[in-house]
Amino acid sequence: MTAVHEWWRDAVIYQIYPRSFADGNGDGIGDFSGIIHRLPALRELGVDAIWFSPFYVSPQNDAGYDVADYCDIDPLFGTLDDFDAMMAEANRLGLRVIVDVVPNHTSSEHVWFRAALAAAPGSAERERYIFRNGKGENGELPPNNWKSMFGGPAWTRTINDDGTSGQWYLHLFDTSQPDLNWENNDVLEYFDDVFRFWMKRGVSGFRIDVAHALRKQAGLPDWGDDGEIKNIGPGGTVAPAWEQPETHDIFRRWLRVLREHSDETMLCAEAWVNPPSELAKWVRPDEMQQAFNFVYCYAEWAPAPQRTVIDQSLDAFGAVGAASTWVLSNHDIIRAASRLSLPYPEGGAYDLIPGLVFDEALGRRRARAAAMVMLSLPGAAYIYQGEELGLPEVIDINPLERQDPTFARTNGERLGRDGCRVQIPWEQDKPAYGFSETGKSWITQPAIFGKLARDAQQGDATSFLEHYRHLLSVRRQHGLGAGSLTWNATARDDVLSYTVNDVTVIVNFGTEPYAIPAGEIIAASASGISSQLGTDQAVWIVA
Ligand code: GLC
Ligand code: CA
Repeated sequence: MTAVHEWWRDAVIYQIYPRSFADGNGDGIGDFSGIIHRLPALRELGVDAIWFSPFYVSPQNDAGYDVADYCDIDPLFGTLDDFDAMMAEANRLGLRVIVDVVPNHTSSEHVWFRAALAAAPGSAERERYIFRNGKGENGELPPNNWKSMFGGPAWTRTINDDGTSGQWYLHLFDTSQPDLNWENNDVLEYFDDVFRFWMKRGVSGFRIDVAHALRKQAGLPDWGDDGEIKNIGPGGTVAPAWEQPETHDIFRRWLRVLREHSDETMLCAEAWVNPPSELAKWVRPDEMQQAFNFVYCYAEWAPAPQRTVIDQSLDAFGAVGAASTWVLSNHDIIRAASRLSLPYPEGGAYDLIPGLVFDEALGRRRARAAAMVMLSLPGAAYIYQGEELGLPEVIDINPLERQDPTFARTNGERLGRDGCRVQIPWEQDKPAYGFSETGKSWITQPAIFGKLARDAQQGDATSFLEHYRHLLSVRRQHGLGAGSLTWNATARDDVLSYTVNDVTVIVNFGTEPYAIPAGEIIAASASGISSQLGTDQAVWIVA
């Protein structure tokens, strides 16, 4: 028997958000023909794998997280042949591919949901979703008080053929994203086949959307006074929509399906679960292989919180034999180069609220140092497209261009997530900064994206891009992702130092300069660092 190559334990995985990566046909929305052409840039950056946010057939009410057909490509992004061509190019470049699976809900355009609406209450078709009769004399009140994650009620009432009001269905997200019933056998079997379909096409893993939501507490009880399921209750309890123990049986089933095909295919959980000891349950040996460490992502940029989350994570994941999966940004989170300048608690905000003011210089300085922490820690790491360019969160977006359902569902009280989803810039002097030859783009890119374009940064040793590229290459050379971490004593509380393999990492969170101990500096968060480490600066040194 050959040993399983657990590549996911120390891989660096780059997230492509297809609609905003590269547009091949000039309609202003990214697609596979655009992506294929740009993959060599990711090889050059030095990542091991790519995770694709959804590209499946979808009405795009939640940017593709509303899937109408899990086994076909939306014409916006291309065809299955284009996907295969992309896979071939990724293979040629030695990049693994992970795709996104959205099992908590389908689109309301999915054939199953259409059939469910057409069928009677209590029918097999309705059993695949979560339909309930309303409360009140005529069923005019929703079955419970839950609010949608995007604002507004989590229930929508159906209309019968004769125009009368019918049952209600649950949607933790948008109205057009009805939740599936994971107690239903059709649902279980269907997703087994979805995994099989994409494994046959060569993918190495699956990122599982809202993995902690699949099973709901029996009886669907109310949550607090206001039904805000995103809020934590007394004593740290979570809403009955999340983290039900039965969910783990689903993960075990999926792993068996994956292992029919290969020992090198993996599952990565998007699970907003806190603390790390709870999250670690998602990656027990017979469940998933990775779970995004959002506790780390949202930890305050200060020595004690950083050290605590690193320790708790390494302990918790280590206890179940898994590696931690570090992350600083994705398509749902305020971009790190802006977010890290925010004080707490805003710095941990899920999405943008009007009126937040970023200090760009501070954010960038910290983001460069934070990358040195993340990429030196034992475990895997994810990089979100544009993070390597130091892109800021875009705040000034024309309301008419905003597409995140959060914006409309909260009447603009929450701006939503469009600001981290703006098309990334490739060439400073081209239309739409090289995103699309025609210059079209679904959100207008801000002028600052010009000087942040990849070609403007390339070859400039002081740039964000060259910083990331250098860190990735040193990380690989020194095997940091597969190393183990030891803390070092420092003379000050506001300076952290740890050693992974032969590399010592030092970060100065304080305001006073810190004398760098003897050794060769092999990476630094800013140019010109030699003997002193300034505020929010970091170095990697070898003795
Ligand atoms: C996840 C996705 C997010 C999406 C939501 C509903 O959190 O990352 O973008 O809106 O699930 O599918
Ligand atoms: Ca396009």
